[in-house]
Amino acid sequence: MIGRLNHIAIAVTDIAAASAVYRDMLGANVSAPLPQPEHGVTVVFIELPNTKVELLEPLGAHSPIAKFLEKNADGGMHHVCYEVNDIIAARDRLKAAGARVLGDGEPKIGAHGKPVLFLHPKDFCGALVELEQV
Ligand code: CO
Repeated sequence: MIGRLNHIAIAVTDIAAASAVYRDMLGANVSAPLPQPEHGVTVVFIELPNTKVELLEPLGAHSPIAKFLEKNADGGMHHVCYEVNDIIAARDRLKAAGARVLGDGEPKIGAHGKPVLFLHPKDFCGALVELEQV
């Protein structure tokens, strides 16, 4: 059901410092920071030949990654995003299998302007999973 790895998201407390690590030390192609108030994060997109890395910094008082960074002060891998062709079919199949879909279970428009859902880490080997319809 899942297809390509769309991106790996890494939560950070200082997106300028994290961008410098990826740009200057790792030699990656790093975008300018893009504030996304509707998602409570500022995002930097890093294009790799086979996938993307996204750096996420909290934005605003109710950022969904604030709690994660309280527990992971150095930052850390926050989620992996897999592509699916039909997000509703994927959701229904996962729910039928007993997986928990976060929020109200309805797809939201994600950072790339496409419908996304998040799946509970406890049901997926301890890793928060994002599904993105492509
Ligand atoms: Co994501």
